[in-house]
Amino acid sequence: MLATHGTAQSIQSRSAAPVAAPKLQVDDLTKRYGSFTALQPTRLDVPAGEFLTLLGPSGSGKTTLLQMICGLVEPSGGRILIDGKDETRTPVHKRDIGLVFQHYALFPHLTVAENIGFPLRMRGMAAAEVEARTRGALDMVHLGHLGGRFPKELSGGQQQRVALARCFVYQPSIILMDEPLGALDKKLREHMQQEIKRLHRETGATIVYVTHDQEEALAMSDRICLMNHARIEQIGTPHEIYARPKTAFAADFIGVSNIFRGRVQRDAHGTPVLVTSDGSFRLTGEALPDQDEASLVVRPEQLDLDGEGDNEVSGEVVDTVYAGSETRVLVALGGGTTVTVRLRRGLAPPLPGDRVAVRWRAEAGVLVS
Ligand SMILES: Nc1ncnc2c1ncn2[C@@H]1O[C@H](COP(=O)(O)OP(=O)(O)OP(=O)(O)O)[C@@H](O)[C@H]1O
Ligand SMILES: [Mg+2]
Repeated sequence: MLATHGTAQSIQSRSAAPVAAPKLQVDDLTKRYGSFTALQPTRLDVPAGEFLTLLGPSGSGKTTLLQMICGLVEPSGGRILIDGKDETRTPVHKRDIGLVFQHYALFPHLTVAENIGFPLRMRGMAAAEVEARTRGALDMVHLGHLGGRFPKELSGGQQQRVALARCFVYQPSIILMDEPLGALDKKLREHMQQEIKRLHRETGATIVYVTHDQEEALAMSDRICLMNHARIEQIGTPHEIYARPKTAFAADFIGVSNIFRGRVQRDAHGTPVLVTSDGSFRLTGEALPDQDEASLVVRPEQLDLDGEGDNEVSGEVVDTVYAGSETRVLVALGGGTTVTVRLRRGLAPPLPGDRVAVRWRAEAGVLVS
């Protein structure tokens, strides 16, 4: 079993006063290539032991941010602090950071055990210690029986586990992973997600993980840092971002969303409503000022067919999609929007062409700018 350095640190940071610096701090970090900005000035604090995921579409700046943190790309501005110490100019190999990439980059001429022991030998560790640590790391990824094989004799999932073991073996307190499961099929990817979460729990390392797969981000992260157009769009726990997206982009990128665009006004009773091409819908909470353009986000599980709700709109069923654990009904509304409704348990799926009423409670909607 490897050391649990991160756990000790997080306990310390909870009890110590004043509060210890975050494990990793990104302070106005920027990257420009000529006139093109790959990362706008970005601030980010990552507490010790956190599993933080950078999620966003292709080209949003995830890899750029990660590579500046590890030192492979030189920032155009800003600072990187590790344990409160400025490491912006520290070379890659002197930062206490482990890296795992999509392409595992194992040495083909070294056995699995030799691959895993490589970073330890590079650091001048004694042979007996290298062997003991290598054995521990192999067991940790359940490959104890394959130490003598060469990488080409392993499956893709096994090779990625070797790459994980090679990263965890020298116990870096920060581990950066850039789409490490991107090359694996869905079933293996889900299995490896659990493996990485277990390694995270057992070692207490601080992990910054990149993916453009929102399900993976929701399943794995303590917090998600959602990126868009070279900046952070929203940062929060998976639940916060899912339940309280701040923008239409965040709502659309994470989970399935129904988004109505319109203007905020007051109805005859003074209640705020969003006037859209599909109808006027009641809002709750702090609505934007009158006349502001806004989007109303309602998740499929908040919509109900022929059920209860303050808001109602009728439409025509376009399709029903059976997805194993749930059935989704696509309904085309009069104003041009097609909404996705999760079919309530026990209800018979409607047929394409059926007229239905879609209802939801005003509190279930989230108004975003
Ligand atoms: N060396 C470079 N020179 C010029 N532009 C670059 C360079 N590296 C990255 N970029 C640009 O910076 C932007 C951000 O790239 P980055 O690799 O960070 O995106 P990403 O979010 O990791 O995307 P993906 O999900 O496709 O991996 C992209 O528009 C990319 O073309
Ligand atoms: Mg990338």
